[in-house]
Amino acid sequence: MSKRKIAVIPGDGIGPEITDAVLSILESAGFEAEWEFLEAGQPAMDKGKPPMPEETIERIREIGIALKGPTATPIGKGHKSANVALRQALDLFANVRPAKTLPGLKGPFADKRIDMIIVRENTEDLYAGIEYQAHPDVAQAIKVITRPGCARLCKYAFEMTKSQGRKRLTAVHKANIMKLTDGMFLEEFYKAAKDYPEIHADDIIVDNCCMQLVTRPETFDVLVTENLYGDIVSDLAAGLVGGLGLAPGANIGINCAVFEAVHGSAPDIAGKGVANPTALLFSALMMLRHLGENEMADRIGKAVLRVCSDGQCLTVDLGGKASTDEYKVEVIRRAQDALSV
Ligand code: NAI
Repeated sequence: MSKRKIAVIPGDGIGPEITDAVLSILESAGFEAEWEFLEAGQPAMDKGKPPMPEETIERIREIGIALKGPTATPIGKGHKSANVALRQALDLFANVRPAKTLPGLKGPFADKRIDMIIVRENTEDLYAGIEYQAHPDVAQAIKVITRPGCARLCKYAFEMTKSQGRKRLTAVHKANIMKLTDGMFLEEFYKAAKDYPEIHADDIIVDNCCMQLVTRPETFDVLVTENLYGDIVSDLAAGLVGGLGLAPGANIGINCAVFEAVHGSAPDIAGKGVANPTALLFSALMMLRHLGENEMADRIGKAVLRVCSDGQCLTVDLGGKASTDEYKVEVIRRAQDALSV
């Protein structure tokens, strides 16, 4: 039987280092795939191409599934973000970002049992990229929210909540101020809720949500929200459970899915061999589950939990001394131990 093809974008900054570690872990655990490496980010720009070249988007469209490393976006000038371009071109409308406490890790929230999933809208809102400047001292950006966009996102979030056996879905918004845009989102949320009577549906204003996320994060289950709030709230949630080095994500569309960590290309530590590959690894485990490889995803996930609760081989961001490579070798060893019991 031919191996399944998976597109891989190593990206830039720490991207190639962590991608390499993750592919080694998957292969050592017995996952068989034909990786097709595609260009995006700095390597593409070095050749005079846009950060997300058209040919890369087309190959992902054909292959249907991709694992993506981070790609830097120049601030305030230059090209549109590679990520925004990819999500919009492939209509990857739902960005799923789990945040869960890992055993053994220190930090102000280590004693809380945090286990939430944030479902972020991925193609609309202020990320539509419509900005203009009619006067040198006034710049405007347009927030685009569509009814079909809200409806499909909310339906997806309810379906995901149900399929994972979770009980509560909370819409995060600012409809008290943005009555038309966020009001429409909230309307579609409660419309969708009627089809899922077994799920407790409620809503919260985004500023109050941020406050409650740091005062009682253990009370949240699944959150669904628009693009900008989701971007900010999911980084906050990543901080609650140990930082960006641990936060995975999946971009889901109708025909394509792209799995990538929440974090960026971390230029401050790129090339030093100290990046934590766990966020991308957890994203890859979401990909395995998407492909029905649940046993393998569980086994690798448990190996990571053992490495964390042991505390002997943690990367620098988690207070340890291990390099990316040492951590990778330890996860591989634990995953193989699990096979031999
Ligand atoms: P960042 O997430 O790259 O880094 C923030 C901080 O977290 C840094 O101190 C970094 O060292 C640390 N960090 C991030 N990931 C880590 C890991 N795996 N292990 C250890 N430490 C880690 O955010 P920043 O600096 O705001 O963005 C850098 C670039 O990345 C920007 O150009 C931004 O546009 C881009 N970016 C790309 C994303 C993507 O490709 N999906 C997402 C977010 C940002």
